[in-house]
Amino acid sequence: MLKGERVVLRPIEPEHLPNYIRWFADQDVLAFFGPYRPMNLAQEQAWYESQNKDRETVNFACEYEGQHIGGGGFSRLNHAHQSAEVGLFIGEKSFWDQGLGQDMLTTLVSYGFDYLNLHRIYLRVFAENQRAIHAYEKVGFIPEGRFREAEWRHGRWQDLLYMSVLRHEWQGKPQSSA
Ligand SMILES: CC(C)(COP(=O)(O)OP(=O)(O)OC[C@H]1O[C@@H](n2cnc3c(N)ncnc32)[C@H](O)[C@@H]1OP(=O)(O)O)[C@@H](O)C(=O)NCCC(=O)NCCS
Repeated sequence: MLKGERVVLRPIEPEHLPNYIRWFADQDVLAFFGPYRPMNLAQEQAWYESQNKDRETVNFACEYEGQHIGGGGFSRLNHAHQSAEVGLFIGEKSFWDQGLGQDMLTTLVSYGFDYLNLHRIYLRVFAENQRAIHAYEKVGFIPEGRFREAEWRHGRWQDLLYMSVLRHEWQGKPQSSA
């Protein structure tokens, strides 16, 4: 279990899975995130089993005040280059814009540097996802590249931004208690 300032990150358990089905059916949550095909419980269970066995992946359920509100974690863990991709979402949209995403990301990044011994943590975000970009910049992620017209959503091509934070940048930044 990882404790942020306000969120708690726990292992994902099978009882969490129905929430993911509900969130992945919400077009507001999916505007700049997640699968573009409908997800059912069988697919979610298959994902759960496969990510449990995947040594390149570390995922958490995110709780706030005892309520499961979203999730986040690492994929593409590369031990040779000490890098990984981080991703996160809050499925309960009534909890958006309260600083919980920043808290979750800070907690994940601290874990990535302090326990996974990463050197570089990067993420991908749609260029139109201004809420996410603002949150990621506040946590310390730096935009480093733009993949033009990388994905098709909402009936048009969307640019993707790559952002990253390096271990020495993180260590030089004032830390929260996460
Ligand atoms: C993106 C997400 C993780 C951010 O978490 P969050 O808890 O809502 O975000 P936070 O409250 O920590 O930070 C959001 C910041 O963006 C600001 N913001 C909100 N809407 C904004 C907009 N349209 N433009 C610019 N900034 C915006 C907020 O005011 C806040 O800034 P502040 O701390 O200076 O007040 C969450 O909203 C989410 O999961 N959204 C849906 C799925 C998604 O897009 N996931 C990310 C995929 S890369």
